[in-house]
Amino acid sequence: MKEKKENQNLSAYERAAEQEIDPRCIPQRLTETVPEHDEIVYPDYPQSDHESWKYLYDRQMKFLPGRACEEYLEGADKLNLSPDRIPHLKELSHIFNSITDWKIARVPGLIHEQNFFEMLRRKVFPSTDYIRGKEELDYTPAPDLFHDIFGHMPLLTNINFASFYQMFGEAALNAEGENRTKLETFHWFTVEFGLIKNPEGMRIYGAGILSSLGEVQNALSDNVKVLDFDPEKIVVQEYDVWHLQPILFAIESFKQLEQGFKDWTKKNGIL
Ligand SMILES: [Fe+2]
Repeated sequence: MKEKKENQNLSAYERAAEQEIDPRCIPQRLTETVPEHDEIVYPDYPQSDHESWKYLYDRQMKFLPGRACEEYLEGADKLNLSPDRIPHLKELSHIFNSITDWKIARVPGLIHEQNFFEMLRRKVFPSTDYIRGKEELDYTPAPDLFHDIFGHMPLLTNINFASFYQMFGEAALNAEGENRTKLETFHWFTVEFGLIKNPEGMRIYGAGILSSLGEVQNALSDNVKVLDFDPEKIVVQEYDVWHLQPILFAIESFKQLEQGFKDWTKKNGIL
């Protein structure tokens, strides 16, 4: 067994390395302001990064017709997402600003929940601006721009979803203890893994599904038990972040998500 260094002086990354947890999955508290909206600079991406974006975009888009919800596909159109080039966060921020009054901030990785909720409350979506390495194209446990942009951003052009998400930030800042955990669970089964009953049938809106090759093929299959949206049931549902999801919840509309969340938080005194 490897001899342990003096533990006190290790950084969070070093401690994570000792415990063999991927350091990129440990949330970091922001110690300085991060660039927002017009302050965001487009990185000098190597050509191989643009190729990774195109590969992931093309591969994932192929599965989305008939699977992703209308509101997501319309949002992707509004954002002019294209396979040709990694989008510029500043340009996306301007589009959000004109539609739902949201903005983007460029963050260095997974951020601490306190920073995250504060941004949501201010209608700011934190996004990374780096893309996973070639060896992680099929799966990465860490956040990257493909998950943040392709997975999350299209729905932020939807008025009801954007309003819900802003309320979520506010409620999460007010919540403590058990209620915070319940909100995390709510986030998991909606923002990351939500389904919606569109008029044409069951569709996906969760970013964790839409940006994952395995989940996008699994979510609408017979392997998944789909339950009706009910905040009381969602917040106590167990889940496992490391495996394909066996249970998902379906909303009727984004209005229902917005209203259902509002009612639940009011009832629990956190909004
Ligand atoms: Fe996410």
